[in-house]
Amino acid sequence: MASNSRILLCLSCIFSFFLVRTSAISEAEVLLHFKNSINDPLDALSDWSNITAIHHCNWTGVSCTNGVPLAVTSLTLQSLNLSGEISVSVCKLANLAHLNLADNFFNLPIPLHLSECVSLETLNLSTNLIWGTIPGQISQFKSLKVLDFSSNHIEGKIPESIGSLQQLRVFNMGSNLLSGSDPIVFGNLTELEVLDLSQNPFLITEMPVGIGKLSKLEKLLLQNSGFYGEIPDFFKGLKSLKILDLSRNNLTGKIPQVRSILLPELLSFDVSQNKLFGTFPSGICEAKGLVSLSLHTNFLNGSIRSDSISECMTLERFEVQNNGFSGDFPSCLWSLPKIKLIRAENNRFTGEIPDSISESARLEQVQIDNNRFTSKFPRGLGKVRSLYRFSASLNGLYGELPPNFCDSPVMSIINLSHNHLSGRIPEVRKCKKLVSLSLADNGFSSEIPESLSELPVLTYLDLSCNNLKGSIPQNLENLKLALFNVSFNQLSGRVPLSLISGLPASFLQGNPELCGPGLPSSCSNDKGTSKRFGLSKFTVAIISLGLASAPLIFGLGFYLVYRSYRPKFESCSWRSVFFYPLRVTELDLIMLMDEKAANGKTGGAFGRVYDVTLPSGELIAVKKIPTMSIHSWKSLKSEMKILAKIRHKNIVKILGFCQSDDSILLIYEYLPERSLGDLFGKPDFDVPWSVRLKIAIGVAQGLAYLHQDYVPHLLHRNLKSKNILLDKDFEPKLTDFSLDRIVGDNAFHSTISSESADSCYLAPEYGYTKRTTEQSDTYSFGVILLELLTGRPADQLKESMEPSLDVVKWVRRKINITNGALKVLDSKIMSTSSQQQMMGALEIALRCTSVVPEKRPSMWEIVKTLQCLDSRTTLSVQEINISGCIESDSV
Ligand SMILES: *[C@@H]1O[C@H](CO)[C@@H](O)[C@H](O)[C@H]1NC(C)=O
Ligand SMILES: *[C@@H]1O[C@H](CO)[C@@H](O)[C@H](O)[C@H]1NC(C)=O
Ligand SMILES: *[C@@H]1O[C@H](CO)[C@@H](O)[C@H](O)[C@H]1NC(C)=O
Ligand SMILES: *[C@@H]1O[C@H](CO)[C@@H](O)[C@H](O)[C@H]1NC(C)=O
Ligand SMILES: *[C@@H]1O[C@H](CO)[C@@H](O)[C@H](O)[C@H]1NC(C)=O
Ligand SMILES: *[C@@H]1O[C@H](CO)[C@@H](O)[C@H](O)[C@H]1NC(C)=O
Ligand SMILES: *[C@@H]1O[C@H](CO)[C@@H](O)[C@H](O)[C@H]1NC(C)=O
Ligand SMILES: *[C@@H]1O[C@H](CO)[C@@H](O)[C@H](O)[C@H]1NC(C)=O
Ligand SMILES: *[C@@H]1O[C@H](CO)[C@@H](O)[C@H](O)[C@H]1NC(C)=O
Repeated sequence: MASNSRILLCLSCIFSFFLVRTSAISEAEVLLHFKNSINDPLDALSDWSNITAIHHCNWTGVSCTNGVPLAVTSLTLQSLNLSGEISVSVCKLANLAHLNLADNFFNLPIPLHLSECVSLETLNLSTNLIWGTIPGQISQFKSLKVLDFSSNHIEGKIPESIGSLQQLRVFNMGSNLLSGSDPIVFGNLTELEVLDLSQNPFLITEMPVGIGKLSKLEKLLLQNSGFYGEIPDFFKGLKSLKILDLSRNNLTGKIPQVRSILLPELLSFDVSQNKLFGTFPSGICEAKGLVSLSLHTNFLNGSIRSDSISECMTLERFEVQNNGFSGDFPSCLWSLPKIKLIRAENNRFTGEIPDSISESARLEQVQIDNNRFTSKFPRGLGKVRSLYRFSASLNGLYGELPPNFCDSPVMSIINLSHNHLSGRIPEVRKCKKLVSLSLADNGFSSEIPESLSELPVLTYLDLSCNNLKGSIPQNLENLKLALFNVSFNQLSGRVPLSLISGLPASFLQGNPELCGPGLPSSCSNDKGTSKRFGLSKFTVAIISLGLASAPLIFGLGFYLVYRSYRPKFESCSWRSVFFYPLRVTELDLIMLMDEKAANGKTGGAFGRVYDVTLPSGELIAVKKIPTMSIHSWKSLKSEMKILAKIRHKNIVKILGFCQSDDSILLIYEYLPERSLGDLFGKPDFDVPWSVRLKIAIGVAQGLAYLHQDYVPHLLHRNLKSKNILLDKDFEPKLTDFSLDRIVGDNAFHSTISSESADSCYLAPEYGYTKRTTEQSDTYSFGVILLELLTGRPADQLKESMEPSLDVVKWVRRKINITNGALKVLDSKIMSTSSQQQMMGALEIALRCTSVVPEKRPSMWEIVKTLQCLDSRTTLSVQEINISGCIESDSV
C-alpha cells in the first residue's frame, strides 16, 4: 500500500506540472476530461457535452458560484452507477469545494491525488468499493472539512497523521474493515462535529483518546465495533453532544457519572448491549432535552430513584430491560409527558403500576415482564388511546381486570400471563386490533367472554391454566385463530368443531368435562360414533365430513388431528395425522389393507400400494413403507406437512399418514386409471400424439412447480413412468415424490441404487455424485419424453439379437443414421401433422438427457417450449416453425 501511495504522489507531481501548463483550458473542458475517465453505464452524464448548447454550469450534478465569473463549486454525482477512475483533472476546477460521488461503484484505493484540489472541503465517497488502507499522507487534505468514506472496504489503522486535519468537521469511516489495537487519538480535531467509527468489527481497541476535548462534537457513533474497556470520563468536555451511541461493543466498567456535568444538548444516550455494571446514571436527566435513553442488556443493578427521572420532561424512550435493576420502579416515569416506550422486562423491579398511567397520553408500548411488580391492574390503562402493546407477564399483579383494560383502539398485544389476576375476564369489544391475548396461568374464574369472537384479527388466544368455567363459545369458530390454548381450566360441554379440526394448534387438555371428537369423552348426544369407538380407553378421533367447510378458514386448510392409539394386545402403537377428513381409524385402515393385501400393487422400491375402500365408500391409496426410522414423530410430522401442503393439479395429494414402530402408511388420493408405465410396451399403446404431448406438459408442470414455485423447493428424485398416474382424461399426476425426506437420504439412496430395473431413469451422474439436483429430475423427465415419443418402455429388454438397451442409448444410436430421427418416432401415431411437433419434442428430450447436467434445460423452460409446440397444432404443416419454440444451439 505504501508503494501505491508513492505512485499516487508522483502522479500528482506530474499533474501539478500539467496544471500550470494548461491553466488556460476552460472548465467545460476540464469536466469533459473528468468524464472521460468515468464509466457511465446509465448515460447519466449525457448532457456533459460540448455539442449541446447547455452551459456547463447547468450540466447534471454541476453547481457554480452565483456571481460572475461563473466557477464550478460543487459536483454531486451520487447514485448514478458510475465507476472507473476519479481523474485528478477535476482539481483544475479551482473553486471546487464539494465532491460527492457517493453510492456508486468506484473500485479504487483512497484517491489521495484529490488533495491537489486546493479548495476541496467535502469529499463524499460513501457506499463505493474503496479499498486499501488510509495512508499517512491523508494529512495532505489540509482544506477538508467533511470526509465521508463510510460503507466501503477500507482496512488497517487510522494513522496518527489524521490529527493534522484540524479543520475536519465530519469524519465518517462507519461500515468499513478498520482494525488496530491502539486507541486512536482525536484530541487535535477540535472542530469535529461528527465522529463515526461504527460497524467496524475488527476495530478491537479501547475507546479513542482525547474525545473529551472535542467540545463541538455533536454525534459520537461508535456502535457495533470492537471497543472494549471502560468508557472514559469524557462527558465533561462534550458540551455539544447530542447523540451518543456506544451500543453493541464490549465495554465494561461503570457508566461515568454525569451528575454534576451538564450535557445540555443531549438527545439520545445509548450504551446498550455491552458489559457495563454499576448503577443507573442518575444525573442523566440534567440533559434537559433527552429523548431516548437506552441502557438495556448490561449488568447494571441497584435501584432507579424517581427523582433521577422526574426531570426527563422530553423523554420518549426508556429502555433498561435485561439488567439487574431492583427496588421500586420509578413511578414518575409513568406520567412523563412525552413518554412512548417503556421497556424494563427481565429485572427485579418491585412496586406498583399506578392508576395515573392514564395520564401518559402518548404511551405506545410497555414491556415489564418478569419483574416483581405487585399491584392491582391499573384502572387507567384503557384511557391511554395510543397504547398498542402491554405486556406484564411473570409479575405479581392481582385483583380483577378493569372492564376497560383493552379499550385502546390500537391495542394489539396483551400479555398478562403468570400473574395472580382473578375474577371475571371482562368483555372486550373496543380493541378491534387485538392480535394476541395471553391471560394464561392466573386465577380467572368466569366464562370465556363471548365478545372475543368479535375481534376480527385475534390470532393468538391463550387462556390456559385458569379456573374458567362454562362452555367454549361457539362463535370463536369465526376467528382466524392460529393458537387456541384453554388447557387446564374447568370448561365443559361440546367443543366447537372447527376449533378442533381447523386449527394448526388447539390445546384443550386438562378440561375433563369437555367433549367432542378427538377428546377422551364424546358428547352424550352424538349418534353412531360413540358406539363405534366405544373402546373408550383409546384416544380416537373421527372427523365428520360435515366439517368440510372448516379448512377454508386457513388458506390451505389442514385437518390436523393428533392421535395416539394403543390397542391392548398389540405391542406397537400408531400415531397419525390426517390432512383431510377421513372417517377411519388406524386399526380399520390396517384391517382393510390386510384384506386387500393380495391385490396390493407393487409401488416401487419403497413399499407396496394398497387400494383401500373406506366404510364410507370412499377410495384411497395407501403406501406402506417399512420404517427406516430416522425421524422422530415430530420431524416426520413436519416433513409430511411439507409434502402434504403441495396443491397442484399434476401432483397427487397426500391425505394423511400413520406411523408405527415398524412402518409408515402414506395415504394418497385414489386415482382409478393406470400409471403411464402400465401403458408402455403394450401392443395396443396407441394413445395419439396430442394426448402424449398433454401428458408431457402436465408432468413438466408438476416438476417445475416442485423445483421452483413450491417453498421449500423440492426434488422428485424418483421420477419414472410408473410414478405418473393418469386420470380418466389422461391428466398426469406425479406420485412417490420426495420420499427421501421421509425415509432419509441414506436409505433412499441405497434403495434407489439397488433397484436396477428402473436405473435407466437415473441420470448418469447419479453413479458418481451423491448430490442430486434438479438436473437429475430433468434427465428422468427426458427419458419419459422419449418413452412417449418412441412408444418403447425405458427399460426395453433384449430385442432379438441386440443387447439390452435403454431408450436413451437406443435413440442416440438410431439418430446418428441418416433420417434416423424419423425412425425412432412411434410409427403408430405419426402423421404429417404431428411429425413436426414430435421432432421438436425429440430435440427437447435429447437436451434433457444430455450427459452433462449443466446442458439440461430447467423445467420451466421445458414447460414453455412444450406449450409453444402445442400451440402450433392449428397451423398448417408448412407454417410450423419449430425453431420459434426451441433455441437452435441444441442437441
Ligand atoms: C468537443 O470536444 C472534442 C474533444 O473533447 C473536440 O474534438 C471537438 O472538436 C469539440 N467540439 C466542439 C464543437 O467544440
Ligand atoms: C441554467 O438554466 C437556467 C434555467 O434553464 C437559466 O436561467 C440559466 O441562465 C442557465 N445558466 C447558465 C449559466 O446558462
Ligand atoms: C445500478 O446498479 C445496481 C447494482 O448493480 C443495479 O441493481 C441497478 O439495476 C443499476 N441501475 C440501473 C438503472 O442499471
Ligand atoms: C454523503 O452522501 C450520502 C449519499 O448522498 C449522504 O447520505 C451522506 O449524508 C453524505 N455524507 C455527508 C457527510 O454529508
Ligand atoms: C496536534 O496539535 C499539536 C499542537 O497544536 C501539534 O503539536 C501536534 O503535532 C498535533 N498532532 C498531530 C498528530 O498532528
Ligand atoms: C470482549 O472482551 C473479552 C475480553 O475482554 C473477550 O474475551 C471477548 O472475546 C470480547 N468479545 C467480543 C465480542 O469482542
Ligand atoms: C450489584 O452488582 C455488584 C456486582 O456486580 C454487587 O457487588 C452488588 O452487591 C450489586 N448490588 C445490588 C444492589 O444488587
Ligand atoms: C407471554 O409471556 C410469557 C411469559 O413471559 C411468554 O412465555 C409468552 O411467550 C408470551 N406470549 C406472547 C404471545 O407474547
Ligand atoms: C398451552 O397451555 C399449557 C398450560 O399452560 C402449556 O403447557 C402448553 O405448552 C401450552 N401450549 C402452547 C402451544 O402454548
